[in-house]
Amino acid sequence: MGHQTSVDITTPDKAENSKAANTKTLFIKTYGCQMNVYDSERMADVLAPVGYAPVDSPDGADLVVLNTCHIREKAAEKVYSELGRIRKLKEKKAASGGTMKVAVAGCVAQAEGEEIMRRAPVVDLVLGPQSYHKLPEMIAKVSRQLGERLETDFDTEEKFDLMPATRKVDGPTAFLTIQEGCDKFCTFCVVPYTRGAEFSRPVDQIVAEARELVAQGVREITLLGQNVNAYHGAAPKLEADQFWGLGQLISHLSKIGGLDRMRYTTSHPRDMDDELINVHKHEKTLMPYLHLPLQAGSDRILKAMNRGHTYAEFKDLVAKIRAAEPELALSSDFIVGFPGESELDFKKTLEAVEEIGFASSFSFKYSARPGTPGAALPGQVPEDVKSERLARLQKLLTAQQLAFNQSLIGKTLSVLVEDTSRAGSELFGRSPYLQGTHFKGAANLIGQIVRVKITDAGQNSLRGVLEEKSL
Ligand code: SAH
Ligand code: SF4
Ligand code: F3S
Repeated sequence: MGHQTSVDITTPDKAENSKAANTKTLFIKTYGCQMNVYDSERMADVLAPVGYAPVDSPDGADLVVLNTCHIREKAAEKVYSELGRIRKLKEKKAASGGTMKVAVAGCVAQAEGEEIMRRAPVVDLVLGPQSYHKLPEMIAKVSRQLGERLETDFDTEEKFDLMPATRKVDGPTAFLTIQEGCDKFCTFCVVPYTRGAEFSRPVDQIVAEARELVAQGVREITLLGQNVNAYHGAAPKLEADQFWGLGQLISHLSKIGGLDRMRYTTSHPRDMDDELINVHKHEKTLMPYLHLPLQAGSDRILKAMNRGHTYAEFKDLVAKIRAAEPELALSSDFIVGFPGESELDFKKTLEAVEEIGFASSFSFKYSARPGTPGAALPGQVPEDVKSERLARLQKLLTAQQLAFNQSLIGKTLSVLVEDTSRAGSELFGRSPYLQGTHFKGAANLIGQIVRVKITDAGQNSLRGVLEEKSL
């Protein structure tokens, strides 16, 4: 989670459609984690019935939404520089007699709503992650100049109940948020403050959304949550006090015909229960991939981070999961330079990486976030030390990632074809281990699961040859 991606969910051909009469144009820019990607799609769903069609550029758009991330300082800063660019476009549109409305959504909105209003008058409305179902109403209010511009309530239940049932999908893979918020309060992290308390959607609601996705041609669903494996949703046809965990939910969803692949992210080591591990063993629709953040290898630092487990416990857990699913590709997140981290502590992170071995990883310099306990701790690590440690860690992690990808050369993997490659004549899909895989093939294979023999491997992707049409 939290990989610093910026995803533009719009496509150019929709821009053409948007020129039709009575259509207003909507540009959404997404920062941060997959949950924001999901939320952006849902905002587009909420706005479609009131006449907004997505476009691929903010220039001239009737509504611009920035769906923001607050996880690290840089992520939050990006919003203000983007707002500077948007302001010019808004002025340009005004000069030609039009109106552009600008909304800031997501975690920066939740954390710094008042400040955004003060610092960036270009912004017409600010809304937190639990308020997206109110977007049409808020836009109407802004249009009527009622001035109610800030909506950062925390009612997660309402959000999901009031979102439209239909979802517009684009391609054979989709995200599905099943859980939001976090009660763990790791001392470095803003998520408990921006997304609120842990909340799990009821099983029936998730099943209905999954069926709808599959009916539209989706074959792979990634279940999302800030703490997805802490999922405990109301059981179907609620028998008083019955709750299902993630393992039970995945087993149930895997019975949906046409849903061939499932993934889930992000998990916390503390919530990886035996039932879920068992599903990795028995449920073949569940892909052999797990993102399980370790953050640091030193017990002293893990404790200061409030992660709630030791390194030895993490190691034992991984051994147990690997025993259940020997094919597992393990991925993780790391933070270097948490306050008080000594060279010795940092070396324990390197040792942990050597010992466990990861197929892919994300690593970050600690970023002090205002309001989190970590920001007030003594022993803040100087920037140059953080940079130097990050470089050492990333050298090791990228070598492991390359080695893992190269170990697949000569093997035949199942690949769900998602799209054509940028190169044009090639296809792009993902392996069970989530690597992007490129190979030659006809565009009518998009949406199919094919067998690809891997011939080349880079750090970030695989290349191969199509073996036969389908599995
Ligand atoms: N819910 C997920 C994490 C969400 S944030 C989990 O519990 O693992 C994604 C990643 O960003 C975290 O795993 C962590 O490695 C990183 N991160 C979070 N806060 C950070 C901070 N203040 N500075 C640097 N990295 C941070
Ligand atoms: Fe943040 Fe920790 Fe919660 Fe993950 S578990 S979202 S890192 S507080
Ligand atoms: Fe960022 Fe919020 Fe996700 S802070 S990582 S967008 S939960």
